[in-house]
Amino acid sequence: MELSQAINIRRSVRKYKNQPVETEKIQEILETGRRAPSSRNSQNWYCIILRNPQLISRMSEAFAKQQWITQAPAILVVCGTNNRTMMCGQANNPIDCSIALTIMMLKATELGLGTCWLGMFDAGKIRELLDIPAADMIVAVTPLGYADEEPQERPRKELAEFARYMD
Ligand SMILES: Cc1cc2nc3c(=O)[nH]c(=O)nc-3n(C[C@H](O)[C@H](O)[C@H](O)COP(=O)(O)O)c2cc1C
Repeated sequence: MELSQAINIRRSVRKYKNQPVETEKIQEILETGRRAPSSRNSQNWYCIILRNPQLISRMSEAFAKQQWITQAPAILVVCGTNNRTMMCGQANNPIDCSIALTIMMLKATELGLGTCWLGMFDAGKIRELLDIPAADMIVAVTPLGYADEEPQERPRKELAEFARYMD
């Protein structure tokens, strides 16, 4: 699949089939994330992959109004370590981890898998359940699995609103 096709057909998937995700596919997705750029090439990140149905169901505590997440056969959690503020004033962990997750989501699309970026989660509960050190930042979470729905394309702003040339 062409990259542009993966970008165009990716959707946030909120309904998953009760079908496990092949380990080889998860490995390919992680391999993609491993290749992401990061500030100073620090690679201060790691991923946690949940596949155990009992553990996933215990995660429901962290997703108060989004219980559909626990129907997914796998959940990917992306964490940052040794966060620092870059010269531009922004923290590197959220940016580095977001780049990694973005390209992993596109790889998942290429492999026929659905994802949904989640910002609405109780980080404290996830930290407790997965024993994530207090100093690490839980940046993003996505379910991972075969879509059991075909979400419509969501509207986007026009290109002219998105960018302007300053020639
Ligand atoms: C930072 C971020 C946080 C998001 N948080 C949630 C969330 O908690 N729950 C959810 O269902 N979707 C969440 N989304 C998905 C967005 O709603 C979705 O990307 C947007 O509506 C566009 O739809 P599309 O992904 O299908 O193109 C999030 C997306 C991003 C980028």
